[in-house]
Amino acid sequence: MTASDSPPATQPQPLRPRRSCLAVPGSNPRFLEKAKGLPADQVFLDLEDACAPLAKPGARKNIVAALNEGGWGDKLRVVRVNDLTTHWTYRDVIEVVEGAGANLDAIMLPKVQSAAQVQWLDVMLTQIEKTVGLPVGRIGIEAQLENARGLLAIDEIAQASPRIQTLIFGPADFMASINMRSLVVGEQPPGYDVGDAYHHILMSILMAARAHDLQAIDGPYLQIRDVEGFRRVAGRSAALGFDGKWVLHPGQIDAANEIFAPSQDDYDHAELILDAYDYYTSEAGGLKGSAMIGDEMIDEASRKMALVIAAKGRAAGMSRTSAFTPPQS
Ligand code: GLV
Ligand code: MG
Repeated sequence: MTASDSPPATQPQPLRPRRSCLAVPGSNPRFLEKAKGLPADQVFLDLEDACAPLAKPGARKNIVAALNEGGWGDKLRVVRVNDLTTHWTYRDVIEVVEGAGANLDAIMLPKVQSAAQVQWLDVMLTQIEKTVGLPVGRIGIEAQLENARGLLAIDEIAQASPRIQTLIFGPADFMASINMRSLVVGEQPPGYDVGDAYHHILMSILMAARAHDLQAIDGPYLQIRDVEGFRRVAGRSAALGFDGKWVLHPGQIDAANEIFAPSQDDYDHAELILDAYDYYTSEAGGLKGSAMIGDEMIDEASRKMALVIAAKGRAAGMSRTSAFTPPQS
């Protein structure tokens, strides 16, 4: 195929909700089948750490078959390939995208260390899309930050390709890579008693994501039976502004979907602020720059905050339970 008969380039896809991102080992056909019916916003079929080295070739085939069989509903379908310090990555990408590129939304690249690694994946995807006749640029990239090098290069990584959709925190590998003295993901390292040891990493990921219009995703919580612990840790990253979190077990999915969507009260209030602000800044409302709703003063900054909450609620399929009524004159 020559450049002139390439399929048309596609615009970057609008971001879809990723409140819960379910990890599914590609080497286990039973888990792949079960994942189809679970209510996660995203599944990622794993060729990396959840697959033993000797199981990786079989896992590639299982993943291609599972994607092509369908039945995933409107979940985002992502495949995590091996990182670029291994010899598996190129074959992971070629087999999965040649085999099931039309039924795949994004590739997740773990342990990203530089913009060049993301650009490598972008070029690979473009070549495969052109070769097999897929729209160029539709398949997204999710970049997982799991070491100090990656974090120091995060601003370049975040803008390395128009395909990038998310920046993801990989806490287990990150803790290992910086020699953090702890084996428990999600908890503070023993001996550190002056704050949150992960705050800098989480905020760096969030800042880069917001600066470049990407989603910020928190990583796994490994105590899979401790749903209360999951809620506590997920609640922290949700409060900072993260868009979602990995889930490793079906029991964590409902909690993630709930925690990363606004509460009904907050959602209703956000929609109320938007309607009230629209009204008060209009001719009918007196062209006001700021106005009162009850005891609360709202202005343009309130509208921006309300937009964030309203957008998350709408993306999560929420409907409002109250409406704004303009005051009688
Ligand atoms: C996930 O990949 C992690 O390392 O936490
Ligand atoms: Mg990892």
